[in-house]
Amino acid sequence: MARVGRKPALVFIGFMGAGKSTALAAARQAGLRAVETDELIERGLGEPLAAFFEREGESEFRRREAGVVVPLLERAEDEAIALGGGSVLNEAVREALARHVVVWLQVDADEAWRRVEGSDRPLARDRAAFEALLPVREPLYEQLADAVLPSRDRGLAGRAMPALVELLRLPSGTRLVWASSASGEYPILVGEGLLEAGYWPLEGRRFCVTDTTVARLYAQRLEPLAGMVEVEPGEQAKTLAEAERVMRELAGLGMTRTDHLAALGGGVVGDLGGFCAATYQRGVPAVQVPTTLVAQVDAAIGGKTGVDLPEAKNYVGAY
Ligand code: S3P
Repeated sequence: MARVGRKPALVFIGFMGAGKSTALAAARQAGLRAVETDELIERGLGEPLAAFFEREGESEFRRREAGVVVPLLERAEDEAIALGGGSVLNEAVREALARHVVVWLQVDADEAWRRVEGSDRPLARDRAAFEALLPVREPLYEQLADAVLPSRDRGLAGRAMPALVELLRLPSGTRLVWASSASGEYPILVGEGLLEAGYWPLEGRRFCVTDTTVARLYAQRLEPLAGMVEVEPGEQAKTLAEAERVMRELAGLGMTRTDHLAALGGGVVGDLGGFCAATYQRGVPAVQVPTTLVAQVDAAIGGKTGVDLPEAKNYVGAY
């Protein structure tokens, strides 16, 4: 059984220029107390970080950095913290991150350089040396991350903040990745015991499309449901006729545009249920709850939905 967690803080990690300060500002806007560790370190040093770094060298800087960051992480409660890009090189820092929700802001070398070029960061003077640091650090960021956000879009941290804050109360081990496509974006949550912990991404009445096998196994976990429609398991359910039957049942159950539809099952249910959500009353919100690995890694991601025609698979659908 997964442990229901109450994590003390959101901690933003990532390379120089990844947007950690921007994410921190979004967390502050969401009502969390915000702490930037470089500022604390600088205050302790009594001089600009760059001046200390250049005079005393990197290893002395790392020692002083860990001396500030480790106790801060050990004591943090109800806050958001942005770490300097190299903090995770220290093992005690990595250990102290375990009790928190760690958010990795991903950035590529070109974008990072564009953002930090000309700043006073001591490790961003020479482009080749700067870029060489990224592949060394990325495995550490990846290994530590509970949530991963691409950071090209500066506004994303703000839009993702409600989901990140939600992670603080979800079971330990819950992971979040961010899906974006031309037609929309949304968080993907992966973990054990999410439904039992009361996680559900949308307000309002919940309807469900599932198949008869999955219904028996898992449908009760989606309660409270305002209504449920079952289809036979298998690809033969992915037809316009079946979509019509499902939508007529939803209409009979009184589903409206202010409600939403959960597709609980494998790829067939995800495609059919998603298609019904995309078209019922010209579109209602959908939540994909994939119960097979293929549906988890493929069908449920990116908003693709559809049914088959006798002529070909997936010939009718919507994103
Ligand atoms: C560093 C990143 C800087 C700062 C120092 C060292 C690094 O913070 O801590 O210059 O080693 O990546 P930012 O990541 O906020 O730029």
